[in-house]
Amino acid sequence: MSGIGRWLKWVLGMGGLIGCVWIESAISQYEGDIPPQPGDAAAGRRLFRNRDWTATGLTCIHCHADFNEKKTPDGYIRPGYSLFNSGYRTELHTWNGEILGSLREATSICMIRWMTPRVEGATEGEAPEKHHLRQIMAYLRSDELVQEKKARPVEPMWAKDLPSDRLLKVGEANLGQRVFRRSCIHCHLDDGSGPGPSLIRNGYSRYQIAKKIRGKDNPGLNGLVMPPFTRDRLSDRELINVSSYIFQK
Ligand code: HEC
Ligand code: HEC
Repeated sequence: MSGIGRWLKWVLGMGGLIGCVWIESAISQYEGDIPPQPGDAAAGRRLFRNRDWTATGLTCIHCHADFNEKKTPDGYIRPGYSLFNSGYRTELHTWNGEILGSLREATSICMIRWMTPRVEGATEGEAPEKHHLRQIMAYLRSDELVQEKKARPVEPMWAKDLPSDRLLKVGEANLGQRVFRRSCIHCHLDDGSGPGPSLIRNGYSRYQIAKKIRGKDNPGLNGLVMPPFTRDRLSDRELINVSSYIFQK
């Protein structure tokens, strides 16, 4: 190898090494759990359930239960999974199917996507406040929520295709109304008081409604995007019926 080649290799090698060390330290800073302080879990519970502190009016409870959905259902099926017993899950999913190994990262991704003040021109927001993150983590890991320190990962089923136009046309609006009351109404109040827009006379086709629900090519509204429902949270049959109901609404 020529002198120049060796030199180049050395420079690239060092650059890579420095880059790795830099990324490594950025990650460990991010991952390092800030020790919880007294009162954090109670504060975190309030943040989880109360929408008045977020920039978008959306908070965790709109998308995730914090109780056992099977044993004590409250009548709603939310787009995200319950975070009951999730405090020590070691495999977690983001809204778009990426797999993560850290609760802190998963929580912070949700806050940036849906809760913090919007960044102009982007469909996301600013980084969350450190103390909010610390308090919410303390709540998710509190005795109230965690019963066992091992938790199996959830198994979301992402929808690859939308039902055909022909199927969407035969949806039953009266059955769709039931789906609406269970899965949509807590975000889409008829009087428009949010956090999502009122869906009365929305002007969307059935296909566009179905696309919105499955999170396909959704540009969102003012930097906020509706969370997608996977097929295990909302079946294709329910999708077809609710799209018909919203189409007629
Ligand atoms: C607008 C909806 C929405 C909001 C608000 C939201 N999330 Fe999520 N979150 C999702 C979706 C969708 C997923 C991906 C599906 C899943 O894993 O539940 C997800 C995933 C997660 C996961 C990974 C769960 C797993 O085991 O895969 C955690 C942890 C999480 N969110 C925590 C939070 C916390 C804590 C808050 C409030 C600070 C929050 N999220 C707010 C929609 C939301
Ligand atoms: C966690 C809150 C949340 C839930 C649950 C939710 N949505 Fe949304 N939805 C939003 C937000 C926020 C928007 C505005 C951003 C966007 O268009 O992506 C929206 C937008 C929409 C729009 C476009 C409205 C317009 O005027 O632009 C339709 C249609 C819609 N949702 C249908 C549904 C249906 C049907 C369900 C139930 C299966 C549902 N949504 C559940 C938050 C939610």
